[in-house]
Amino acid sequence: MRRLRQQPTLKNLIIYELQTNPTVMTPSVPFNAPHLFVEEAFDFLKDALQHGAISGDGPNTKFCVEWFAERFGYERALLTPSCTAALEMTALLLDLQPGDEVIVPSYTFVSTANAFALRGVQLQFADSSFDTPNVSIDSILSLVTERTKAIVVVHYAGVPLDLRPLLVTGIPLIEDCAHAIGAFDPYTQRPIGLAGCMSAFSFHQTKNIPIGEGGMLVVNDPQLWERAQIVREKGTNRTRFIEGRDTFYTWHSLGSSYLLSDIDAAFLRASLNHFDEIQEKRSAIWKGYDRDLLVNSLYKKPKLTVSLANAHMYYLKFSSWAIQQSFCDWMKKNSVLVTTHYVPLEESPFIAARETPGGATCPMSRNWHQTLVRLPLFFALTEANQNFVIKCINEFSEHHGFVLQAVLPEHYEGIRLIRNENREAFLHTEEIDPETHGKFMKLHSQTYRVAYHEGNMVGFVGHVDGDFRIACVPSQQRKGLAHFMYSTFLEEYPFVSVRVKRSNVKSWAFFKKLGYKPEPSAFASGEDPLPLILG
Ligand SMILES: Cc1ncc(COP(=O)(O)O)c(C=O)c1O
Repeated sequence: MRRLRQQPTLKNLIIYELQTNPTVMTPSVPFNAPHLFVEEAFDFLKDALQHGAISGDGPNTKFCVEWFAERFGYERALLTPSCTAALEMTALLLDLQPGDEVIVPSYTFVSTANAFALRGVQLQFADSSFDTPNVSIDSILSLVTERTKAIVVVHYAGVPLDLRPLLVTGIPLIEDCAHAIGAFDPYTQRPIGLAGCMSAFSFHQTKNIPIGEGGMLVVNDPQLWERAQIVREKGTNRTRFIEGRDTFYTWHSLGSSYLLSDIDAAFLRASLNHFDEIQEKRSAIWKGYDRDLLVNSLYKKPKLTVSLANAHMYYLKFSSWAIQQSFCDWMKKNSVLVTTHYVPLEESPFIAARETPGGATCPMSRNWHQTLVRLPLFFALTEANQNFVIKCINEFSEHHGFVLQAVLPEHYEGIRLIRNENREAFLHTEEIDPETHGKFMKLHSQTYRVAYHEGNMVGFVGHVDGDFRIACVPSQQRKGLAHFMYSTFLEEYPFVSVRVKRSNVKSWAFFKKLGYKPEPSAFASGEDPLPLILG
């Protein structure tokens, strides 16, 4: 048998496997893999059996409800078979009638809207924001009319919305917290889901606390609590009857079977006992992507939000639909499953067939549909598999675009060559020899970045005491490299100042396209190099 001589890195192991066992292909990283704490759950199941209660409201349900009250202050919570069921309960509890209007996000899962469509209401679709897929509060406010009977928001990716502008409208607000367990309200800093009159959570296999199927309704408005217990018991007063408050039970309102069985609650109980461990692991994976994915010209990473958010999702936003598609193909070829997300609901076949054509469109929601890709992020994701995902992504970025990375000593000579090749663009136009350049780099490499394409260094960008420097190899000029380096660098160093020699027509033209113009007094006095200002 062949020996594995090199270090057992993941790549070497794959090559070794391929050489020794041709039936084994590349490793397969799923988008999601469920994780249950089975042994503990079985103990809790036995508990339920001993109590003779495996339908709803058994000992495991009781434990979970108390846990949520203590941990997050959800004082009136009901476990449900799904978040979908919890959302349907909210629609029933608000007594919505045909003709009422309900505002829902365009960029969300079907359940957020379907629960309300079931009541025959008119849906109004609010667009996403420009810089996050979360629903835009301004878009919601622009849709409010006197017929608006409810507003539904989703804390997308577990990134919490600031709901204050919606609360002041006085319109009942439902929070779809399917993604958001463990997140915090950005204004009150309290756990998510306490702002609206009701909120709905999911314990579906793809969520932070996965038990297969499961959900929870949190009722913040005390006036809805009594009816919530009737609605979930098929419209009957069974809860009051069991508690000895009524002598028999019968039909009181519309309702359905909205209880989670105590068998499922046993799995939820076991997972809740590991809540912090799960969240810490997810957060570490989120931060790992954020740290190791190279800054590049093809996609943007999400803003660092894990302190208030719950590391539910790590997504990339590509610069176009074509690049999104080619990225998904690339990852598939590498046996890594990544997924795009929601089709805007107003474009779905169901709504398109129902609503009158020419209704409102949500361009940002469509943009997110065509540009966002979610990466594998789940409790059981191994470090080796995550590193493999990161490697595939960084290779894609370097192959199809440019990446920008911190300068190391091995880059010094490459920077010198590119700088000398472009020396007419610099304020000191003489050739720089290796020794002078080495000393210079030792002083300033911290504020320099190098760009790579297909394994070659193709440019650099940097500043020296706020004075901006940029250069590309000739073969990559006019391919967007300079613009990418400039705009990315400015996100890190917004204070840099730009000066160009008057004779340097190429640099003038480049900065002019970016919106720069000469500083008027320096221009009038004939200053050279000439300071340029934005605007
Ligand atoms: C935003 C949103 N709301 C509701 C749901 C429905 O959750 P469940 O599967 O628990 O019914 C999902 C499911 O993915 C979701 O993403």
